[in-house]
Amino acid sequence: MRAMNEKEARERIEWLRREIREHQYRYYVLDAPTIPDSEYDKLYRELEDLERMFPSLVTPDSPTQRVGGEVSPAFRSVPHRTPVLSLSNAFTEGEVVAFVRRVYDLSGAKGPLDFVVEPKIDGLSIVLRYERGILSLGLTRGDGLTGEDVTRNVRTVKSVPLRLRDLPGGAVPEFLEVRGEIYLAKDDFARLNEEREAEGLSSFANPRNAAAGSLRQLDPRVTAKRPLKALFYEVREIEMPGNRGMLFPEPGELGFGPAATETGSLDLLKALGFPVPPYTKASSAEELIASISHWNEFRHTLPYDTDGIVIKLDDRELAQRLGSTGHSPRASLAYKFPPEQVETKVLDIILQVGRTGVLTPTAILEPVRVSGSTVSRATLHNEDVIREKDVRIGDTVVLQKAGDVIPEIVSVVKEKRTGREVEFRWPDKCPACGSDVVRYPGEVAYRCTGMSCPAQLREKLIHFASRDAMDIRGLGPAVVDALLDAGLVKDAGDIYTLTAEDIQSLPRQGEKSAEKLLAAIDESRGRPLARLIFALGIRHVGLSASYSLAEHFGSLDAFLEATPEELTQVPDIGPLTADSIVKARSQPSMKELISKLKAAGVKAALAAERPAQKAGGPLEGQTIVITGTLPGMTRQEAEEKIRELGGTVSSSVSRKTSFVVVGDNPGSKLDKARELGIRIVPAHEFVAMVTKEGVLANEG
Ligand code: IVH
Repeated sequence: MRAMNEKEARERIEWLRREIREHQYRYYVLDAPTIPDSEYDKLYRELEDLERMFPSLVTPDSPTQRVGGEVSPAFRSVPHRTPVLSLSNAFTEGEVVAFVRRVYDLSGAKGPLDFVVEPKIDGLSIVLRYERGILSLGLTRGDGLTGEDVTRNVRTVKSVPLRLRDLPGGAVPEFLEVRGEIYLAKDDFARLNEEREAEGLSSFANPRNAAAGSLRQLDPRVTAKRPLKALFYEVREIEMPGNRGMLFPEPGELGFGPAATETGSLDLLKALGFPVPPYTKASSAEELIASISHWNEFRHTLPYDTDGIVIKLDDRELAQRLGSTGHSPRASLAYKFPPEQVETKVLDIILQVGRTGVLTPTAILEPVRVSGSTVSRATLHNEDVIREKDVRIGDTVVLQKAGDVIPEIVSVVKEKRTGREVEFRWPDKCPACGSDVVRYPGEVAYRCTGMSCPAQLREKLIHFASRDAMDIRGLGPAVVDALLDAGLVKDAGDIYTLTAEDIQSLPRQGEKSAEKLLAAIDESRGRPLARLIFALGIRHVGLSASYSLAEHFGSLDAFLEATPEELTQVPDIGPLTADSIVKARSQPSMKELISKLKAAGVKAALAAERPAQKAGGPLEGQTIVITGTLPGMTRQEAEEKIRELGGTVSSSVSRKTSFVVVGDNPGSKLDKARELGIRIVPAHEFVAMVTKEGVLANEG
């Protein structure tokens, strides 16, 4: 490159930025590039070079500044200027009809009212502020009043404009606040999961989850590597020069049409350079229902997941006059699609042996695509479920994803039976070790009674090394299987006496990987007490109970010596859990394990800070109330699972409640939920939703 003076450099930089922005817009927003990638790369590299030579000319809105360098310790909380509301949900056409009637009644409309129908993008809500056209802040919804500052991460999302496009006539908003959705496209999500699995990392349950996890990375460079996208659907506030405080510009004021309507806002957003969702219009309940069926059919052709559609009154001023109930505007509604259901065949029913010996029947299915992924097995939970649904080997069944995540057999298509179907019979002996199988009174589960069942041992070891327990990287199922096959470990204590030669003798383990694994094992000696208690895999002692026990007793010995009475004094620990702890620690195998761990120098330090709620879990942001008894799960287990999946448990129903889980003999909470119109989830659906191998911290 020939030498330039600063003035020339400035001009060239400005020209390059304009060009690059235009090409990014065509590529990421319009999906219609006009130059080959190689030419674009050349422009980009030239800009990078010039900015390196003239660092004083770097500005935050430069296309090169999408990824900053530093890692921030945490996200700063920032109050929203106005509350970020959510939508009330409808699950039936009747509810849509009632909504339309209410809007017509409340508005006293004489003529027809227009509604806009958009897909409900299954991502996470984002609020962006622009000052004089430059992106200045990106906030998550948070609790609706305060959000988390994720600006640096949002900047890495290529379809988010760092700088607004000029409106016709050259006007730029003084201030703009917009709301949209950050998401992962279905194919990008599949690719991301494939890559993660290849790297031995856990896969994400669904695109929403993956998007949330990606956006909330402390290091924006990690976010930048995730193919996040965004769509924007709401102008929350706009001030044009000389029009301070103006919320909705009058028709024509911006030189190209009204923003006082939802459709006008979408046009405005588009003109400013934002990607917007597609929409249709309707003005009566009948038209809306026709629209709903259209979108329901059409939704699989969209590149992103949608769990429903959003209906909004087009007239924004009228919508504002109608106000909101609690956290949702009266003029909008989210209609949730029923989960996609497909038919497939049960090829076999097998038993999986868990780490506490529970035998979980699992249906092996003819692989079938449902709600965005291929499913080849579904848990049948226990004998009662098999009997209730009457599932037999060879049956054709209806399959769906509970909570859009976990495959679940809904029912058997009895008309398709040929008579050759085979009923599942519970064996008397464990399929893995041949020990007796028992079903204790009052329990739904069958258990293997074997004390040295290899299948139990396998699961125990996997659990011991898992992320929330001792977190031994590299000690996943494949290595555990190899160690067991080679007879190198008889319990988790033996992990600590493994040598480099032992590990190198396993298939596919070289010098490097042996070294790495040994380092990870060594590091785990310093894990805090709470994780060690959890790692022991005692029935009913999940992650949350482990933290309570560690906080209360302070040392492994104090925990091991506590009387049942002392145990029940710990918050979260009931008589059932206390009993389970007492039984577990008196077992010779547990005693041996503990002495091996002590000999190995496992410190069980107290420095355990309770981990924050899991971010990006499938239940993130949801507040859940339980009433009545649940099938196959104690109340405590259910609450723990909700927390593990990122949700919050509450003991009373309010407008903030996301849904109420209703089991047998529900209490007044059910009436309250009905009164407030809170979504009700039957207990068996909930259990199916939260029960999943690997997610379960507390099987039993
Ligand atoms: S409008 C006042 N439109 O769905 C609420 N929301 O509770 C304004 N969502 O958290 C929301 N796609 O994050 C709207 N086209 C769309 C949407 C959408 C997805 C999300 C939004 C909100 C949730 C509804």
